[in-house]
Amino acid sequence: MNVFEALYTTRAMRRVKPDPIPEEVQRSILDAAIRAPSGGNAQGWRLLLVDDPETKAALGPLYRDALGRLFEGHYKPMRERAEAEGDEQTLRVMRSSQHLADHFEAYPLLLFAFTRNDPGGGSIYPSVWSAQLAARAHGVGSALTSVLGLFHAEKTFDLLGVPPDKGWTLACTVTFGYPTGRWGVAPRRPAHEVSYRNRWGDPVGFEIPDPLWPGQD
Ligand SMILES: Cc1cc2nc3c(=O)[nH]c(=O)nc-3n(C[C@H](O)[C@H](O)[C@H](O)COP(=O)(O)O)c2cc1C
Repeated sequence: MNVFEALYTTRAMRRVKPDPIPEEVQRSILDAAIRAPSGGNAQGWRLLLVDDPETKAALGPLYRDALGRLFEGHYKPMRERAEAEGDEQTLRVMRSSQHLADHFEAYPLLLFAFTRNDPGGGSIYPSVWSAQLAARAHGVGSALTSVLGLFHAEKTFDLLGVPPDKGWTLACTVTFGYPTGRWGVAPRRPAHEVSYRNRWGDPVGFEIPDPLWPGQD
């Protein structure tokens, strides 16, 4: 697969089939993930795959509780604004996130990404994104979630047997599965609206109203 196709079409893919992810694909996802950069090449990561139904069943209620807390707390003003203004895109993301929570146990594969000695948290996300891109190359959809680590880290550590006293932090949980829908280019605010040149606020010097892929490799 062309690298730009993978970059442009790797979306939060939350509607997936229950079909298992073959071991070769799992191997490829993990091996791609650990090629990623990390500060000082410290590689302070641990990647824990979960496909055991009982473990997923124990985590599901925790995940739903965590998302409920996020939606009732931090995201409440955002949802209220979106509802008031008819902001369909934001409401769609929230509905889709709720779908993930409601079907947490049905994802055939979960990846828990732990990080250590990583004060800014920046040394884990390149590897997680590489895992998601590798999955995309195999036709597997993924979705990055952070709510378990935010609201139920202790209970999640307990359920997964993670040592609580070795400095590990749960950065995120990624769901994997073969999509029920189609791959598409992620709609985003265009680059020229969020980029400057030489001085904050000065135009970057070009405009990119439409995604450059497909059409330019
Ligand atoms: C740091 C981070 C945390 C995220 N946490 C969650 C989450 O807890 N639950 C969820 O469903 N999606 C989560 N997402 C996925 C975002 O909602 C998603 O990337 C965004 O809506 C864009 O989706 P798209 O690529 O399909 O357009 C997270 C993404 C990032 C980068």
